[in-house]
Amino acid sequence: MLVTVIGTGHIGVTHAVCMAELGHDVLAMDVDEAMIAKVARGEVPFFEPGLEPILRKNLRDGRIRFTTSYREAADFGNVHFLCVGTPQTVGGAADLSYICAALRGLAAHLKSRCLIVGRSTVPVGTARMLLARARDLAPAGERVDLAWNPEFLREGFAVHDSLQPDRLVFGVTCDSATRTLEQVYAKLLQRDVPGLFIDLETAELIKMSANAFLATRISFINAMAEVCDAVGADVTQLVRALSHDERIGGRYLSPGLGFGGSCLPKDIRAFQAKATSLGLGSVVDLLRSVDAINMARRATVMDLATRALGGSLAGQRVAVLGVAFKPDSDDVRDSPALDICGRLELAGATVSVHDPAAMPNAAQVHPHLRYAQSVSEAAEGAHLVMHLTEWPDYQAIDPVALGKVVASRVLIDARCALDMPVWQAASWTVHVLGRQRAARTALGRQLADPA
Ligand code: UGA
Repeated sequence: MLVTVIGTGHIGVTHAVCMAELGHDVLAMDVDEAMIAKVARGEVPFFEPGLEPILRKNLRDGRIRFTTSYREAADFGNVHFLCVGTPQTVGGAADLSYICAALRGLAAHLKSRCLIVGRSTVPVGTARMLLARARDLAPAGERVDLAWNPEFLREGFAVHDSLQPDRLVFGVTCDSATRTLEQVYAKLLQRDVPGLFIDLETAELIKMSANAFLATRISFINAMAEVCDAVGADVTQLVRALSHDERIGGRYLSPGLGFGGSCLPKDIRAFQAKATSLGLGSVVDLLRSVDAINMARRATVMDLATRALGGSLAGQRVAVLGVAFKPDSDDVRDSPALDICGRLELAGATVSVHDPAAMPNAAQVHPHLRYAQSVSEAAEGAHLVMHLTEWPDYQAIDPVALGKVVASRVLIDARCALDMPVWQAASWTVHVLGRQRAARTALGRQLADPA
């Protein structure tokens, strides 16, 4: 099939490349000329393992091309995917200006029957509004249809999540849209990927509620971590026991510094704004609490750092391990770890940062931080080491060797991911959110019996 993809950000490039991989002829379009020039050369402008080789293969095979022209995109295909960002406005609601602009640009050139398919995360009601606008603007008028097919891709796993999705959701208004989408996704649907054909509003809401649910699980376990610290319990044991319950499962229950990134925080705020406009007070309260618990983790980590350094961060050297919003990503948008770096700096600390992939992006936001090429360079002379993003590389750190370069062996593991006894055995004072008593007890044992 001939498919166009409007918007070549993370979601758009991934979708365009995966559509080509599924055998379609793809034209991807963006108004950003530099971005289009880059992807057309076969370079993926963000960190997404496995995407670049598939892009290059499909460029070589002539299955994918790129353009900056709406007219060319409109003329090319009869299925047009909208993969445009919906960032957060100052008030928290979703900013629909980019998606509306993309729709205007495309619709003005639509002269024959076609299907526009939205993939962006939008508040309920957006799809129906865009459908009305498209029909108003397009020369093809009522022959333009619109469906909603939300994406559920995680950064770092975008290729896997595109080609082996858990489910496909399609909001449709007519049978012909259903038939077109069945053709577009035939290879996945034949592999028994569940495909749900429903109304536009439910499709939009499924995406919002999926992200809200994931955020709620993370905030729930972080609330439990707080309770653990208040009563001397251990959150990692708690999670282990909870996850054995098949009804609960273990995913999205990693306690720590909380969620960040370009999706979960923005989407629960956009959802809150929508619920407010609908007068759904209890939904607003729920989402507000999820957000508040999440943001409070950052304050808790700062308190812990201040206490660990005797009451003040001023003049102290702090080494930060990990600034990406999650491991296997170079993205620092709404990164809890990078936020902590800014707060440490404001409190007067000298911050030295290490991250396997995100330092160039972090340096654009916080140019004054020191960026180290290795963990030991970051930790040189540090009074405190803070583990803020759980890159697998950090599990392999040798605490004995690192202990030789720091000024004091004090570690905050804000992601509950390092092997606490191993660090303690190397004479580190370890603070772990949700495991404070475990840390103290083990340390007590070790001090009583240094051998
Ligand atoms: C998220 C969703 O997982 C995707 O399904 C969705 O398609 C995407 O948003 C989107 O709306 O486009 P992503 O932002 O890539 O994907 O990140 P996640 O892997 O979900 O992680 C989000 C944040 O939660 C990270 O900061 C991560 O460190 C944190 N997290 C995750 C925890 O703190 N604990 C956990 O147990 C899991």
